Amino acid sequence: MNILIIGAGGREHALAWKMAQSHQSGDIYIAPGNPGTAEFGTNVPIPIDDFKSLKALAIEKNIELIVVGPEEPLVKGIYDYFSNDPATASINVIGPSAKAAQLEGSKAFSKHFMQRHQIPTAGYAEFTLENYEAGLTYISSQPLPIVLKADGLAAGKGVIIAMTHQEALTSFKEMLQDKQFGEASSKVVIEQFLEGIEVSVFALTDGHHYQIIGHAKDYKRIGEGDTGLNTGGMGCVSPVPFMDALFMQKVESNIIAPTIKGIQEEGLVYKGFVFFGLMNCGGEPYVIEYNCRLGDPETEVILPRLQTDLVSLLAATDNGTLEDVNIEFHEATFATVMAVSGGYPGSYQKNLPITGIALAAALPEIHVFQAGTGFQENTIVTKGGRVLTVTSSAATLNSAVIHVQKALSMIQFEGMYFRKDIGYEFL
Ligand code: AMP
Ligand code: GLY
Repeated sequence: MNILIIGAGGREHALAWKMAQSHQSGDIYIAPGNPGTAEFGTNVPIPIDDFKSLKALAIEKNIELIVVGPEEPLVKGIYDYFSNDPATASINVIGPSAKAAQLEGSKAFSKHFMQRHQIPTAGYAEFTLENYEAGLTYISSQPLPIVLKADGLAAGKGVIIAMTHQEALTSFKEMLQDKQFGEASSKVVIEQFLEGIEVSVFALTDGHHYQIIGHAKDYKRIGEGDTGLNTGGMGCVSPVPFMDALFMQKVESNIIAPTIKGIQEEGLVYKGFVFFGLMNCGGEPYVIEYNCRLGDPETEVILPRLQTDLVSLLAATDNGTLEDVNIEFHEATFATVMAVSGGYPGSYQKNLPITGIALAAALPEIHVFQAGTGFQENTIVTKGGRVLTVTSSAATLNSAVIHVQKALSMIQFEGMYFRKDIGYEFL
């Protein structure tokens, strides 16, 4: 079958790589893609939110399966846009309806949902300009640290962990009165701080059944030892040593099963990935957030670790056989490390030539997944903050990380930076 992947990051490069391995895949198109995805299909320069052009492409190329990488088109209703038109209704779009995507698109919606279905999460309250004064009083009465979240999508910047009440009050004012994140911060969720280790668990659902397709630990801070500013993700490991059978069983019975049951009971149309951002609080899993897509760079370890054919797996969400699919994982441990532009997550230079990708990618057990890259006169250059990620597998996490670093030492661009301590707390 012909496939369209929407997005342009390392996640979409990994999706294209994995789907190209399936005997079921026909032509693969990526919109807009990057030089990495171009190795596995045809890049089409259509922006991720240009639904009209994406639909025209899907019809012209006889697309039967669409995988939506990023959250933005999902929250804007790409699923509904395709399913409401008889010309494209039969296409299997992997991603929830706009309504169900509110699980990621609105923190308040997802908190209400978890409350309705008794899913463990941090205690919270929500405020708008209408009950602003009550918010100030509430903040002052809460223990520290205290977590403030813009309700809507804020490009990963909408969460503030305040260490003092003054800081929390200032952020509260900036979000609500100064409209720091525009419409996204017209409502603010204030949450109890959860102490623990984070882990991301991924499921695929058809709205009734689910399969767990992997998990990973993401390292979000720019600096080694988890210091400095938050980023989109600097590296991942999978599997995670504390994800033993007992913990996994708690995740499944306290969180995943009730979430899917809730989706079903509420009649939410959801055919796609569910990303459970969890906190392991002393052996008990709590939900920090839902995302309605795969993570980046989590995908760059999840998909290499997944042995099951991804195209057949995705097709099973459409033909009622998801329950019967056999999910298999490679035995090895996987690590991925992101190389970023100097200055990221602040400002950085673009269009710097990158060398050594092919050399590194030729090493055994190494995958180079491109993220913020582009072509300039047939040379691969930097185009974003997170430039590329290198994944390796090995019998131990230690060896996987050493392999990755060896491969990264062969890749160069001016200002290149990566964390050398991914997986450190498990080594
Ligand atoms: P998000 O932008 O929603 O991914 O949140 C950013 C990060 O904030 C998460 O990955 C957590 O590290 C942290 N965070 C969010 N909510 C909480 C919470 N209730 N307790 C502790 N940390 C949190
Ligand atoms: N790596 C975190 C995310 O994709 O949201």
